[in-house]
Amino acid sequence: MILMHDITRDGNPVLRQVAKPLTFPLSDEYKKLADEMMQYLIDSQDPKIAEKHQLRAGVGLAAPQVGKSIQMAALLVPNDKGEIIFKEVFVNPKILSESVRKACLAEGEGCLSVDKDIEGYVPRPDKLKIRYYTVDGEEKTIRLKDYPAIVASHEIDHLNGHLFYDRINKENPFSLAEDTIVIS
Ligand code: CO
Repeated sequence: MILMHDITRDGNPVLRQVAKPLTFPLSDEYKKLADEMMQYLIDSQDPKIAEKHQLRAGVGLAAPQVGKSIQMAALLVPNDKGEIIFKEVFVNPKILSESVRKACLAEGEGCLSVDKDIEGYVPRPDKLKIRYYTVDGEEKTIRLKDYPAIVASHEIDHLNGHLFYDRINKENPFSLAEDTIVIS
């Protein structure tokens, strides 16, 4: 089971590396890691289990956050009713295209690897077209928008060595392009 002490924190160089792509079939070790990363997200969104194991709630977890510099990330995205609207483990994800129009979360973003609150809007493409492989090696191309697109962008950023606050405007953290969608 992945616990908070297994999560790499900002300052650990692994979070700033470009993660390496995987080849198929995945090793048993990497398949197990994919399961464990998804299980962390499931457990962290269950108030009782999260409380018991002191897990911070997460909607995405990338392999560098558990110390593995490989192109793998788990996503478990709920809607505001707590229903899961996107669940997948991405292997070797690639953004094929993105909208010019940006979206951001009204409350900003957080990250399991960043312990302090960092205020500011984190503008990301509102729509993404992503190609990735499943853990079983199946190639998929999907389109995401709004909240699931933001989570996917945050996780793919991790695989490229970026953290969410890199995208916050340094001079004015709450400035946005005029047509940016603010998701609350
Ligand atoms: Co993160």
